[in-house]
Amino acid sequence: MIESKTIKAGQSSWIARNSARASWSASKQKARDCANNGRYPDEYLYAGGISMTGPGHILNPHRDSSHDKDRECYRVLNLLYCVSPDWSLEKGGNLEVWPEGTKAEPTTIVSRFNRLAVMVANQHSWHSVSKNTSTEQRCCVSNYYFSNHPVGDAEYFHPTSFRG
Ligand SMILES: [Fe+2]
Repeated sequence: MIESKTIKAGQSSWIARNSARASWSASKQKARDCANNGRYPDEYLYAGGISMTGPGHILNPHRDSSHDKDRECYRVLNLLYCVSPDWSLEKGGNLEVWPEGTKAEPTTIVSRFNRLAVMVANQHSWHSVSKNTSTEQRCCVSNYYFSNHPVGDAEYFHPTSFRG
């Protein structure tokens, strides 16, 4: 990333050359990982990063977008690392997964401090966050892993979509 500052004559081509080289290098790495059926973390934190669920807040059942920002690779793993100290079931703000669909009952995973929840991400991966009934912020750090292969045999594409 280039910060906003004055660029002298001659520097722009150097920047363009090196940006192109960095981009090509990243694409090459991505292609190699994909060719090996590898899974790799999203270095851009597209829809990832730090999330906060404030008091009274809720995140309705949804499935995350199926692909990366360039729609080149499948999002296959969703990682949520819980960082709110002393979190308990009674506070709400817990992760809910819906393995039988959103018309069945969810499985609740308490957002306990230092817990890493790893979910498969595909067209069936409905999940939500229950209402935060506490007076505290529920915080998580999240990221995704990608692959050039879908989870399962069928290809699919969907944007982030909500129910409820
Ligand atoms: Fe999500």
